[in-house]
Amino acid sequence: MRSWPFRVGFGEDAHRLEAGRRLVLGGVEIPDAPQGAVAHSDGDAVLHVVADALLSGLALGDIGQYFPDTAAEWRGVESRVIVARALELVRERGWVPVNVAVVVTLDRPKLGPLRAQIAQRVAALLDLPAGDVGISFKTSEGLAPTYVQTRATVLLARVNGE
Ligand code: C5P
Ligand code: MG
Repeated sequence: MRSWPFRVGFGEDAHRLEAGRRLVLGGVEIPDAPQGAVAHSDGDAVLHVVADALLSGLALGDIGQYFPDTAAEWRGVESRVIVARALELVRERGWVPVNVAVVVTLDRPKLGPLRAQIAQRVAALLDLPAGDVGISFKTSEGLAPTYVQTRATVLLARVNGE
């Protein structure tokens, strides 16, 4: 059977928000966030979906398998470590990410002013130009004010092997 040198990966994540916690998205701490993510790790729901998208593109499972949130070892792990590991697994198999698209659903605060900074940070972790990382923001229209939801797709290309 023919095996194409492209794959699409997709990831989805959500975290509950609570006052008095940090909100970190795409490696960027959001200033003046009225509430932050309740999470075992740093709760970076953007980096979590990027990592899941990388893994899913090659059917490698999800980040919960590699970083179980029951393990004390991973308590408070920075999400950039999770992305780095997912990228390593992809590269070991002879694949690289081509571009990434992320959607963040969050009511407050407005994130538009941080779009370039978040794209730059995610791109740097993936060794891509910032222009290859698209970031969209949506509100939940007030339906989920204590919730951040993220989704990401990634295109992977095979650069060697098979
Ligand atoms: O979801 P909605 O259509 O209401 O979003 C309207 C605009 O607000 C979009 O252009 C989006 O980029 C921006 N937005 C934002 N920060 C958020 C949510 C939405 O900048 N947290
Ligand atoms: Mg998460």
